[in-house]
Formats: sequence, C-alpha cells, structure tokens
Amino acid sequence: MPQAFETGCDPLSPNRNLAPVTAGLDDQGRMTVGDCRLSDLAERYGTPLYVLDEAGIRAACRAYRTALECHYPGPSLAVYASKANSSLALSAIAASEGLGLDAVSAGELLTALKGGMPAERIVLHGNNKSDEELLLAYRNDVMIVADNQHDLDRLAVLVPAGERPARLMLRFTPGIECHTHEYIRTGHLDSKFGFDPDQLEPVLRHLATCGWAKVTGLHAHIGSQIFELNPHRDLAAVMADALKLARGLGHPVTDLNVGGGLGIRYVESDDPPSIDAWVQVVAEAVVAACRERSLDLPRLLCEPGRSLVASSGVTLYSIGSRKEVPGVRTYLSVDGGMSDNPRPITYQSLYTALLADRPQAEATESITLAGKHCESGDVLLNDLALPPSVSGDVLVVLATGAYNASMSSNYNRIPRPAAVLVHDGMAEVIQRRESSEDLLRYDTLPTRLAPGVPVG
Ligand code: LLP
Repeated sequence: MPQAFETGCDPLSPNRNLAPVTAGLDDQGRMTVGDCRLSDLAERYGTPLYVLDEAGIRAACRAYRTALECHYPGPSLAVYASKANSSLALSAIAASEGLGLDAVSAGELLTALKGGMPAERIVLHGNNKSDEELLLAYRNDVMIVADNQHDLDRLAVLVPAGERPARLMLRFTPGIECHTHEYIRTGHLDSKFGFDPDQLEPVLRHLATCGWAKVTGLHAHIGSQIFELNPHRDLAAVMADALKLARGLGHPVTDLNVGGGLGIRYVESDDPPSIDAWVQVVAEAVVAACRERSLDLPRLLCEPGRSLVASSGVTLYSIGSRKEVPGVRTYLSVDGGMSDNPRPITYQSLYTALLADRPQAEATESITLAGKHCESGDVLLNDLALPPSVSGDVLVVLATGAYNASMSSNYNRIPRPAAVLVHDGMAEVIQRRESSEDLLRYDTLPTRLAPGVPVG
C-alpha cells in the first residue's frame, strides 16, 4: 500500500496541492497515483502519457456539489466546462457525480451525449455556432447559450414553426475584467463573447415576442485561473440586475450561470482559494444580491473546468538527450513538448516536475526542460531543480489535467499521447495513442502527384 505524501514531514510536501490527491510513494520511494506506479505506467503504455486520477476528479466534483448544497439555499448545478479536457470517460464521470456539462462545439456536445451526460444538464456555448451545432443542441433539447444576434437569427430560421421553443440562456459581458491578481470594471468590455450590457434590454424585449425562444437563463463568465474572490461578488450584483430586468419583461428566468474561473496551484507559490471558499463567496453574493432586489432565488449554475481536473492529471515523459551550453544552461529534452502541452509556449505558464522513481532525491542541478519540437521556444520548464537523471528516466509534470490534452496538436506530425485513467491500482486507456499512420488518414494524394508520375 503506497504511503501518501504527508504535509510537513516530506520533501514533497510543498507539492501536496500540486500532485493528485491519491499521489503516494511505494516502498522504494517511487511515485504512485491511484495506487499505480508511474514508471510502470510509462513502461506499459509508453510516453508521453497523460495520467488522470479518477478519485481526485470525483473528489473535486463532490466538493463543488457539497459546497453548493451547503452555501446556497436554492437549487444549484455545477456544470463541467469540458473544454478543459473532453472525453467520453470524463463526461461519464461528471454525469455520474450529478454535474452538468458545458460544450462549445458539436464535438464536445457529442462527446457529452455519448458519454451519458443527460441532455437537460448540458449547456451549449460558442460565439460562432454553426447550424449543425445549433440543430444538434435543439434536437436534443440542450440549453443553448445565445451569445449574439447571429445565434438568434439562425435559431429563428432553424426552429420549425409550431414546434417546442429552443431553451435559451442569454450571455452578456458583465463589464468585469479579471486578471489573476487584479481586476478592472468597465462599461463595455472588449470581448468577443456575449451581448454588450446595453443590448440586453432590447434583445430581451424582442425575444419576449418570439414564439421559438424560451429564455430561462442568464450567463456571464469573467475569466480563468482567477485567485481573487471580489470580482465574483461584483458579478453577482450585475447578474441580479439582469435577472430583475428579464423577469420584469416576462421571461421565466430560473437559471443564473456565473461561469467558471477558479484558479489552481501550478507551482508552490500559487495560492488559490479552495473550491468551498469560492462557492461560498459566489453563493452568498447571489443570495444577497437577489434579496436586495426582492427576487426569488434562481437555480445557481457555475461552470468550473480547470479546478475540476487540472490537479488530478500528470504527464509522463521519457528523458532523452542532454545538451550543456557551458556557463549558460543545461537542456534536458523529453519525448513530447508543445504539442501535448502548449500552455508554456502560449501563456508562459509555469509547471512543477519531478522524477517518477526518485521524487524525493535531492535536487542537485538546474536544467531547462525542452520539448522535441522544431521550435526554440518549445521549453516546458525553465530552471527546473532536478536530482541527477539519465536518458530513459521518467519525468512527471504535475497539474496537466486541464487545457493540455484538449489543446494538444500534431505539430511536426507528432502523434498525440494516450490518456489513462487510474483508480485503486487499475489503469484503463481512455484515449488511445495516435500513430503516425493515424495522422495520414485525412491526407489524400492527387493521382497526378503520385510517386513515379512524371511532372508536367
Ligand atoms: N465557462 C466559460 C464560458 C468559459 O469560457 C470557460 C473557460 C469556463 C467556463 C471554464 O473556466 P475555468 O473554470 O476552466 O477557468 N486555455 C486557457 C484557459 C481558457 C479558458 C476558456 N474559458 C488556459 O490554458 O489557461
């Protein structure tokens, strides 16, 4: 039975909130997750490998549900923002934990439906939905978040006359812009998402005359990887005003969706609020704002993505080449990089990494962890303190469960990694590894370009 990392008495303790909740050590000090030894998983399934800890994801789902039940006196629903990591398995887990799901494309919507997510708990987002996406949602009676006039124009045409109306949630820009440690309020946000606040009243007036539309919700989302709680307090007041307006115009609005955004810990110095603290602030602010305006409490929806899955994921790589630039730095290269984790090159995001079989060994060198892509900027971590390592050692990058697999690419025609779900000593492949042949599946070679055909 692996021992768990213990806070305060283990060199890994600063990583306690960085590693998955089931992270532990076997009797020889090798790292385990879900009672599976990580170096064994690397050997069995190859690297790079995404590993997801089912118990950790379920615990986060329950934390949202419990906190909502505890802090909000009305009905509520936590909706998994599946852009963070979309798969049949994650849809099934979210469904079985009583969560809903936010999809932003036909692909995410199909994944949710086929993963067993009840249609009535799915919310379809998107600032440029195709007719295919709108129809798929409408036919399954999925809640459609009307993001702009284009959505309304298309739905007016697509919903057959005399049939049941489309269930709509209206998204607007609340005028609160968040950065990780500060936020600003402006009248009109420069955002591609949602109706401008000024448009809300005329749009709601118009929709009150449309038989094809039933407006039952309002939505706003202020940003992602946010550690501050105050912006969410302000958001509640802005949304309660919108709720009062919509109900005053006769819309049967029962749902208030405050979006997602709670940040997680990627490196030791990150200090995000807990799920419970976040929900408490949001719930209390919504209750207070509704009471001030004498509004019946709506159903409270929130849309967490990152905070449900990020910390429960790790990525395993094999260490390959080493290059020392004397007096400058030492590069250690791994067998993946920006194609399986584009966050460092895209957002300069920071991560934490350790050796799978010697996570507690003393770090003696500072290295630059490079990916294998043809791009100088393909660096996963700068100044990583590591114990001595050799080619073939397995390296673990922590907190990769969100916005890694879902943002992966085939740059340099590198196949995507497999993903395994670990639980109680069992590992199951939930997304198989791509092969180089897979990548050729959508190429076609015009006959005149076939090898051996003379040019001209
Ligand atoms: N709801 C809406 C409407 C959203 O746009 C998002 C995220 C969420 C919910 C979930 O937010 P979360 O709880 O995960 O913060 N690729 C970036 C993150 C982009 C987030 C986009 N929207 C990253 O890797 O940091």
